[in-house]
Amino acid sequence: MMGYFILMILVFTPGVWSGYWKVTLKSQCALKGTSVVIKCDYDYPYGHTVTEVHWLKWSVTSQPKLVPLSDLPSPPDFKYVGNKYGNCDLKINNVRPMDEGLYYFSFVTTRDTWSSKYSAHLTVRELTAFVRPTTVSEGYNVRLICESGCPSRPGITWFRDGQRVSKPQFWARREDAGTYQCAVVGQETARSASVALNVHYAPKNVTLSISSPADIVRGSSVTFSCSCEANPPVTHEGYSLYKGEQWVSLGQTHTIFDIQPSHSGLYHCQATNSISWMGIDVVKSTEIHLDVQYEPMNVSGSVEPQQVAEGGSVNLTCSSVANPAADSYTWYWRRTHSANSNSILQVGSGQMLSLHSVEASHSGLYFCQARNSVGENNSTEVLLTMETMNQGSQSHLIIAGLAGLIVLVALVTALLLFWKKLRAQNAVSGSRVNGLISSVREDQLDNIYANITVPSSPPLTSTSDEADVIYSTVTIKHKATNVPPHIKSKAEAEEEDSVIYAAVAKSRGS
Ligand SMILES: *[C@@H]1O[C@H](CO)[C@@H](O)[C@H](O)[C@H]1NC(C)=O
Ligand SMILES: *[C@@H]1O[C@H](CO)[C@@H](O)[C@H](O)[C@H]1NC(C)=O
Ligand SMILES: *[C@@H]1O[C@H](CO)[C@@H](O)[C@H](O)[C@H]1NC(C)=O
Ligand SMILES: *[C@@H]1O[C@H](CO)[C@@H](O)[C@H](O)[C@H]1NC(C)=O
Repeated sequence: MMGYFILMILVFTPGVWSGYWKVTLKSQCALKGTSVVIKCDYDYPYGHTVTEVHWLKWSVTSQPKLVPLSDLPSPPDFKYVGNKYGNCDLKINNVRPMDEGLYYFSFVTTRDTWSSKYSAHLTVRELTAFVRPTTVSEGYNVRLICESGCPSRPGITWFRDGQRVSKPQFWARREDAGTYQCAVVGQETARSASVALNVHYAPKNVTLSISSPADIVRGSSVTFSCSCEANPPVTHEGYSLYKGEQWVSLGQTHTIFDIQPSHSGLYHCQATNSISWMGIDVVKSTEIHLDVQYEPMNVSGSVEPQQVAEGGSVNLTCSSVANPAADSYTWYWRRTHSANSNSILQVGSGQMLSLHSVEASHSGLYFCQARNSVGENNSTEVLLTMETMNQGSQSHLIIAGLAGLIVLVALVTALLLFWKKLRAQNAVSGSRVNGLISSVREDQLDNIYANITVPSSPPLTSTSDEADVIYSTVTIKHKATNVPPHIKSKAEAEEEDSVIYAAVAKSRGS
């Protein structure tokens, strides 16, 4: 009866055991770098008190034997986490591959010593990371796989270049490229070896740049460079330069050495590698507007109206092609009637030169000079001609012409009617000078040659085959008012007086 009661107490009192000598160990698999607890239970008969506990390892170096852990040549980072009454757990931190092996527990009581008959085997494995596939095109699926090597399935976490990765499966993006490591949740310091993920992607951020973005002047040299991010990188043949829709060249750079206005336009480049993104194989850059600046070219002057009557007004307009547009104009006047043929006078400024109350002395060759920030250029010369006395305006000329024609028809009719009568008489009536200024050569405006024809008449019978010529010199006094107010040159004073040569031709008498 009493014995039974004692047994009951032994069973239900903690720390008091069944009374058998016993050590139970459990083999473990640990991941390198992690911490592991080798599970251990032990028991001993009632009445004993544990005085010492020992963990030993079967050392296979030279002479195989059991060695207390602290006596090993390179002892593990261990700690006894058990107690004196039944738990004899051993914790090993930062497990190393060399910690693998057979572990034994022994203890000493007040009366005896006991060692485990069997061992606990510690297996050390590593985490192994895999990315599937290791090279992927952007947009495709990637799986991260972590194999622990131990039978247990610990919680796994992932790192890419040291940064935690949220999901072990994803659609690859460019920024997902890097080196991956896996680790056991809670023991993140112990990581697998790293594995690389290479993400291939079509060209991105294709950028066209220009060597000198500001103020490209005609004749200078300009280099276009195309760049982008791409994996695999874009080769020489993968780059193309375009002007508008027109292909210009292959390669990453293109130089134009003598740039001309015709090179102006919108440029862009295109890049391609072996990767296509959403079916797009070629990626376009942003556009660059090339604006070639040049000095005024094709400068020309125009006169409106073409012919001006004395006292009228005339506009001379200068036009040019320039970039930037010409912003300064200067007018010059070349004085053809001057002895000094290089007498060029500056007569005004502005795109349009308006001359009012023009006089014969204003006629001549004018040209303009157009200027912009790049340079200047001169127009060809334009002729300003003065209408002479017998010449009306264009409409007047037509009316006069028609009137003349009617008169001529009437005259011919009259001549036919009186022809016979006139033939009998064989005499010429009238000796009026009917010749007027008949032709004025444009380039000799100031030197007006007037051919005056005097029909033959009885008092002026000629003996010569040639018409007699009478030269009359008319000297025109130069008036100050003849000079346009904008002309200030001293050359004016040196100018010779205008001379009119009148050639009077007398018809040979019959
Ligand atoms: C100048 O004129 C020529 C002939 O008319 C023409 O071919 C050329 O393109 C012009 N230059 C500019 C810059 O417009
Ligand atoms: C002037 O213009 C002509 C044609 O318009 C051009 O050939 C020349 O280069 C320009 N510049 C100068 C400084 O003459
Ligand atoms: C000259 O230009 C001015 C301003 O454009 C205009 O009013 C005038 O009628 C023009 N004169 C002639 C003769 O064309
Ligand atoms: C334009 O004419 C002016 C005046 O004669 C001269 O000084 C200048 O050199 C000329 N410019 C050009 C480009 O021919």
